[in-house]
Amino acid sequence: MKKIKIKINGKKISCEAGKTILAVAKENGFSIPHLCHDPRLEPFGSCRLCLVEVKGAKNYLPACSAKITDGMEIITDSVTLHDIRKTLLELIISDHGLDCLVCEKTGRCKLQDLAYQFGVDEKRFEGAKSFYKVEDFNPFIERDYSKCIVCGRCVRICEDVQGVNVYGFVNRGFNVVATTPFDMPLLETDCELCGQCVSTCPVGALTEKKSLGKGRIWELKKTDTVCTYCGVGCNLEVYTKSNEIVRVTAKKKKAPNHGNLCIKGRFCYEFVNHKDRLTKPLIKKNGRFKEASWDEALDVVVKNFKKIKKENGADSIAGISSAKTTNEENYLFQ
Ligand code: FES
Repeated sequence: MKKIKIKINGKKISCEAGKTILAVAKENGFSIPHLCHDPRLEPFGSCRLCLVEVKGAKNYLPACSAKITDGMEIITDSVTLHDIRKTLLELIISDHGLDCLVCEKTGRCKLQDLAYQFGVDEKRFEGAKSFYKVEDFNPFIERDYSKCIVCGRCVRICEDVQGVNVYGFVNRGFNVVATTPFDMPLLETDCELCGQCVSTCPVGALTEKKSLGKGRIWELKKTDTVCTYCGVGCNLEVYTKSNEIVRVTAKKKKAPNHGNLCIKGRFCYEFVNHKDRLTKPLIKKNGRFKEASWDEALDVVVKNFKKIKKENGADSIAGISSAKTTNEENYLFQ
């Protein structure tokens, strides 16, 4: 890839052509506020929070979609940019509930973080507020469109990544919202309940139902692991509290799934703590299963393998493994 030279905030940078200003700034330690950007999606440019100054350009450029060019000189922060961003945030907040005390997204809400960073409250633009609570009896996804900031991330991830197309923008002006056709419940649409929309929503409009009230982000322990549902081996971030799983997400910058998950990987984790789950080996004696130690169970296996081998030869023993185990475990199983 061709290398070009640019400057960000006076720092000389050599980087690959074709990248966006936002990507290069991030790689070089400059933070640019943004709300509608998700690296899994094509740029959309709706929130305008990422506007930056570029020497010689007539207008401010959205860093999420503007590509770097050779010799570009970019300023990511200035008094004017700060004022623009603050005003944009004040406009968003003017039509956004401030129930952060009970909002499920508190602590991991991008809007909350930016409001804190820019010292924004709801006082500057007073007026009507949308109320748009959706009753949806699906088991996994909570929808509260009074908190929607119309960034379109749910619409785009459902269409561009999942190829399902459940969401779209409805209404116009103040009443615009991203929702299903005719506000249908998700179970009456083609929705696969994968929760990709939840994973990209930067605010509390779309949240995980099963996590509601189960703990704030700072109370949870995060463990990186691999999904066991199929052979793809998606990376998972499992959040637990008191040894119980309360949420599952995935790293956006890690293969093979790059932040994407299916319904099973994201939501179907209750088996881990289920009371009926086998946690100890069982040995059948006199027609009934009895709990045993691993040593006892492995002794039985070894004894029976030896007996079968002696009576019928080694080729009479075969094994069935599974895509649910890791590559390493399957290798050992050979
Ligand atoms: Fe660039 Fe929203 S992140 S316009």
